[in-house]
Amino acid sequence: MRPQKIIEAKRDGAELTREQIDSFIEGVCDDSWADYQTAALLMAMFTRGLSQAEQDALTYAMLHSGVILDLSGIEGPKVDKHSTGGVGDKTSLVIAPIVAACGGTVPMISGRGLGHTGGTLDKLESIPGYNVNLSCEGFREVLKMCGYAMSGQTSDIAPADKKLYALRDATATVPYLPLIVSSIMSKKLAEGLDALVLDVKSGSGAFMKREGDARDLAAAMVRTGEAFGVKTQAIISNMAQPLGAFVGNALEVYECVRILQGETEPAWRDTAELSFELAAHMLVLSDLSGGMDKARSRVEEAVNSGEALAKFSKNCELQGGDPKVCEKPERVFEESLVRVPIKAPAPGYISGVDALAIGDGVVALGGGRLKAEDDVDHAVGFRCDVKVGEEVREGDLLGEIYCRTDEQGATVLAAFQTAYTITPEPVVASILIIDVI
Ligand code: URA
Repeated sequence: MRPQKIIEAKRDGAELTREQIDSFIEGVCDDSWADYQTAALLMAMFTRGLSQAEQDALTYAMLHSGVILDLSGIEGPKVDKHSTGGVGDKTSLVIAPIVAACGGTVPMISGRGLGHTGGTLDKLESIPGYNVNLSCEGFREVLKMCGYAMSGQTSDIAPADKKLYALRDATATVPYLPLIVSSIMSKKLAEGLDALVLDVKSGSGAFMKREGDARDLAAAMVRTGEAFGVKTQAIISNMAQPLGAFVGNALEVYECVRILQGETEPAWRDTAELSFELAAHMLVLSDLSGGMDKARSRVEEAVNSGEALAKFSKNCELQGGDPKVCEKPERVFEESLVRVPIKAPAPGYISGVDALAIGDGVVALGGGRLKAEDDVDHAVGFRCDVKVGEEVREGDLLGEIYCRTDEQGATVLAAFQTAYTITPEPVVASILIIDVI
């Protein structure tokens, strides 16, 4: 099928057939479509729209452009969590060992941070020696031996998405729901799952800033997961303020290990709450628990008994990381960092902690990347001490920048300071979990 004919059909508003969509994805993968033809079709899809049938056909073709993991020889229901990304969003590191301790098998294929949103692979790499580049065989082996494995996307998982995403990024065609759904779901469905829980974030630090858009994305991904035979559920969670205490790769690992150690600091209560809730949904959805109350108790027991931390330690050992971080999570810290405090300029109530501003501030420190090929400084970051709704006095500590030098701290100070809004009137605390779909 000639690319021009397919582009022309969509340009003129026709609904593409499954054969045309298959031919497009084949052409993308075997390079018989030039990038300018692919970009032209993406723009035509963006402006003319895709029907439900086209979206499903696109997801199917992208999913089958690569391998689908066959985990049939491994015990336990295969269940994963996917988050649309945020600032301080570190729940994967807490959830995977908990669910594995409760009998689930969690094949977590994760990504790197880009822009203000962090990535699980970068966080894991702040554990000395941790290998996130497992082969398919290595991934299966780790899964079999400890119930969860964490790795980057290999080139044979949904390869069409890699090319399409790069072209969408370069042609301003990312923010179109059917393209987002097919991109995310083709990668997740390739994990060979029985169940999937999605954490769709909404707020300034989220991919979908408006709650209505987050709800639409959640509903569309749940529908697609179910249509492809995977039990799927979504949570809409708040990303208007950063999640938990720390933002920055090594600092976030520290927070996760402390949570798995059963430590309950107020500043990271929301990380624990969201992680436990998502883990409980995973247990219910994969029939490992009878209902949310029982699942929640089982999750908390897995943490309090040390079973989840033992899984984390085993996983570190199997993936080449230093398991001693489980006893002393401060091992991931770099002692030489300079800490620059952010203090309340006036008394009042915290009415905003802008997740986007904090995320951008950490990127400016080198803790995140602006381009996919950039390196990250795993050690730097930020600690958020107060959340929306809290009362502060003038001069109270709002947070601390963890940076390399005083000079570096001075260049980002204003960005962190302006992330906080303080008002004289009391403010209600933000809701963490907005809805379950
Ligand atoms: N994340 C993805 O993986 N794909 C999109 O299209 C958007 C966000």
